Amino acid sequence: MPDDLAPGEAMSPAISVRNISKTFRRAKAKTGVKAIDDVSFDIKPNTFVSLVGPSGCGKTTMLRMLNGLIHPDSGEILVDGAAPTPGPHMGFVFQSFRLMPWRTIRANVAFTLEVHGVSARECAERADHYLAMVGLRRFAESYPAELSGGMKQRAALARALVGRPRFLLMDEPFANLDAQTREFMQIELAKIWQHHKGVVVLVTHSVDEAVLLSDQIILLNPRPGRVAEILDVDLPHPRYAYDARARPEFAEMRGHLWNRIKDMVANDPESEFFMRDDGASAGKTAGGE
Ligand SMILES: Nc1ncnc2c1ncn2[C@@H]1O[C@H](COP(=O)(O)OP(=O)(O)OP(=O)(O)O)[C@@H](O)[C@H]1O
Ligand SMILES: [Mg+2]
Repeated sequence: MPDDLAPGEAMSPAISVRNISKTFRRAKAKTGVKAIDDVSFDIKPNTFVSLVGPSGCGKTTMLRMLNGLIHPDSGEILVDGAAPTPGPHMGFVFQSFRLMPWRTIRANVAFTLEVHGVSARECAERADHYLAMVGLRRFAESYPAELSGGMKQRAALARALVGRPRFLLMDEPFANLDAQTREFMQIELAKIWQHHKGVVVLVTHSVDEAVLLSDQIILLNPRPGRVAEILDVDLPHPRYAYDARARPEFAEMRGHLWNRIKDMVANDPESEFFMRDDGASAGKTAGGE
């Protein structure tokens, strides 16, 4: 997605989120869960953005609204100047894999293309190309039940990429991978983005992953989800070409984010992760990779 802008020309945002709020209500119930409260941010073209924050702060809800799967109660979201709609231009990797068990891995990956009338041959070729990219070419004929959790997650990433999306929205795409595969996949994703560009919005519990991959990190507060801070990560790309983690700026930003998230969790009366009397943590918290 190249930007043919003259120097000094204002760049309109690829995604604009203005004062959005979202409450989930059960039918006929008067009260509900306010998942997102008055959130605003802009995402420039060709930017890699991460959404981070404690469990329940509205990251998945935010991503689903960016994809047009659900709508805010108030406020406005514009994607390339229009209301968001799901489609191949919007690659989406769900928190759960959502592979169709009756289809082979190749047929799962090719599904979006098939629906949009792409020929069977091109479907297979493109599916195999992206399966190779995520290291699953040999499993094209397998069924989801025959794959490990990490392999299913990689298949879901291939499925999101196959439509060559201009917007790639990912909800913890590497959560089920072992630490080693996760690092390989982070490098693969950085390479894919370096090559194709476009906007990536990554939801991750790993602050390390967010700092490694992103241009910008949006930190959300929980209950209700609000923007706590937006940080720019100024480390040069491509970060796989050098040891970005060894840079002092990396450690500083990682430490800052992790401390803020720890404070959010410690001050959340509904959180079960911290024992209130001594502040000791137990269980899954953001950044605990
Ligand atoms: N369909 C729904 N119906 C009712 N409440 C919902 C629904 N989806 C989300 N919520 C509530 O909205 C809040 C935000 O949920 P969301 O899934 O967006 O959080 P999250 O930041 O993605 O959490 P996690 O890190 O655990 O995935 C939570 O309190 C959740 O219970
Ligand atoms: Mg979530």
